[in-house]
Amino acid sequence: MNAHPNTRVLCVSPENPEPDVIAAAAEVLRDGRLVAFPTETVYGLGANALDEAAIQRIYAAKQRPSNDPIIAHIANTDQLRQVAVDIPDVAYQLAERFWPGPLTLVLKRAAVVPAVIAAGLETIAVRMPSNKVARALIDAADVPVAAPSANTFTRPSATTAQHVLHDLGGRVDLVLDGGATTIGLESTVLDLTGGAPKILRPGGVTMDDLSAMFPGTSFALRYTESDEANVSPGQMLKHYAPNAQMNLFSGPLYSVLVAMKDSAARCVEAGQSVGFLVAKEDAPHLGDKGVVRVLGKRDDLKTISHNLFAAMRDLDELGVDVILARDFGRSGLGVALWDRLLRAAEGQIIDVR
Ligand code: TXA
Ligand code: MG
Repeated sequence: MNAHPNTRVLCVSPENPEPDVIAAAAEVLRDGRLVAFPTETVYGLGANALDEAAIQRIYAAKQRPSNDPIIAHIANTDQLRQVAVDIPDVAYQLAERFWPGPLTLVLKRAAVVPAVIAAGLETIAVRMPSNKVARALIDAADVPVAAPSANTFTRPSATTAQHVLHDLGGRVDLVLDGGATTIGLESTVLDLTGGAPKILRPGGVTMDDLSAMFPGTSFALRYTESDEANVSPGQMLKHYAPNAQMNLFSGPLYSVLVAMKDSAARCVEAGQSVGFLVAKEDAPHLGDKGVVRVLGKRDDLKTISHNLFAAMRDLDELGVDVILARDFGRSGLGVALWDRLLRAAEGQIIDVR
């Protein structure tokens, strides 16, 4: 049964996307309408990136403010040259090494791409996804595809078609259900428009990966309440936030676990229900005052990242009042995880040091 009469859902094989399904979806895109599709990071809410009215539909469907620019997804390097101009050598080197994959490059925008995709900026964020459904869809549509994450603005990103329908059912024309995404966190956004590469959003391609190639790479992360245009848009706090209040604990692991257990007890005393977002080995230390969602083993940041957004949504579905989560360190993917947790907690860190 389809609960959303305006939204069609088509299942598609993640390994061998059925050509007829892909052709139908490509037709919807070329028609100026919206298609949600899986990428290796999270689901995207796609529209023809060369069609201004179609891009406007994305902002409307997501209830996203128009000062938050959108990534153009491409399937080949001809499309890179279609959407961007003055492409520096670094971009080609990075593309060679990391595309297709979870790296988004911010470049100078070509005039053929409507300014609305970039919230009026003179730049364009471009990514070549590796997911086979995404690749086949962009190929078949034969246009670059504008796609933000397929969640309602400020909600955790969608890593399954069910998440997409939960947030956008009735407001997207077609959802391609290609199963759960593999990485689970959004791409790394790298600005190449001014000197050395700057990481605007940490993600699947890490600082270690990038600085191995370009030692001058730096972080330019912003955690502010306001979202003034033209600095580093889309980097505002309260992004990826669950409905529950989220508390983020940081410090030596043993102290963190004790503090989380105590905090849960106090919440329950105050009449609030609690959920924990933790690693497998943490679970036995948390007492019995909350629902535990295990994200993965302590050292397995890949699995923890893969499960994070789904677990946040899961705890929201259960209706918990408070989510207690912990810091997973800053090595490799840890930076991206910390970034998402910090935004979900709206910057509120409980430091137990
Ligand atoms: O993994 C991903 O990147 C997913 C999948 C669907 O590809 N997409 C995604 O899109 O996360 P979105 O719209 O949720 O996040 C895009 C990020 C935002 O932080 C936005 O500010 C930044 O990229 N961005 C987009 N265009 C930009 C531009 N021209 N300059 C600077 N930042 C830009
Ligand atoms: Mg997003």
